[in-house]
Amino acid sequence: MLEIKKLNAYYGKSHILWDVDLKAEQNMITALVGRNGMGKTTTLKCIMGLISNKTGEIVFKGEPIEKRPPYEIAKLGVGYVPDDLGIFPTLTVEENILIASYLSKREGVWDLESVYMLFPKLKQLRNSRGGHLSGGEKKMLSIGRALAANPDLILIDEPTEGLAPLIVQTLAESLKRIKEGGITILLTDQNINFVKSVSDFVYIIEEGRIKHRGTVEEIKQSPEIILKYLTV
Ligand SMILES: Nc1ncnc2c1ncn2[C@@H]1O[C@H](COP(=O)(O)OP(=O)(O)O)[C@@H](O)[C@H]1O
Ligand SMILES: [Mg+2]
Repeated sequence: MLEIKKLNAYYGKSHILWDVDLKAEQNMITALVGRNGMGKTTTLKCIMGLISNKTGEIVFKGEPIEKRPPYEIAKLGVGYVPDDLGIFPTLTVEENILIASYLSKREGVWDLESVYMLFPKLKQLRNSRGGHLSGGEKKMLSIGRALAANPDLILIDEPTEGLAPLIVQTLAESLKRIKEGGITILLTDQNINFVKSVSDFVYIIEEGRIKHRGTVEEIKQSPEIILKYLTV
């Protein structure tokens, strides 16, 4: 679905990503994990076309996208849930979802009703303003908005950041259902238990370099890797 080859990225003179190679296979959940400041958000921004100062290849559904602008990448079928969520605070939950749905010209199973089926809480809150939601509700809305555009691949930056453990569990179940519905997921996170429960494949990034890659079973069998690169 997505393949990144030798990606290098820069902010001004700072060299942030170093030869990052990464794949997100179709119908799998791939996790890019690492501590704060290691380059997770930068990697997702590169995929989305939000960082132009970069070299390397990014291939999505067989097509090179590394030189395309963000709106074209979205149109090709990449959804993005940024860490600051990007919802409209003064619009209602329902308006937020409908706008995402209208703006995308892509067809698919995801619409207002299927988003409400996945996140019943959002249906209860349909008339509340985006800015009035709790942290967990905002995450659900932001994911719902991305789904309403019917992407083939969805990039989710730190889905569990700031969420209570119970909500993290619910979110893990929702992500598995999204995957079962046929959407490929690439997420970043620091919560290793969450990553173990949802992912199929894991990449560990440190200081802009991929240090380990493996199936979730391989990572689970290497507690020393988890201790070295992650906060537990
Ligand atoms: N807009 C920016 N300008 C300059 N440096 C940045 C900017 N955004 C992030 N960085 C730096 O790039 C590195 C990687 O950041 P980031 O990709 O946000 O890491 P993560 O998402 O893993 O926490 C960090 O050292 C961070 O300070
Ligand atoms: Mg980040």
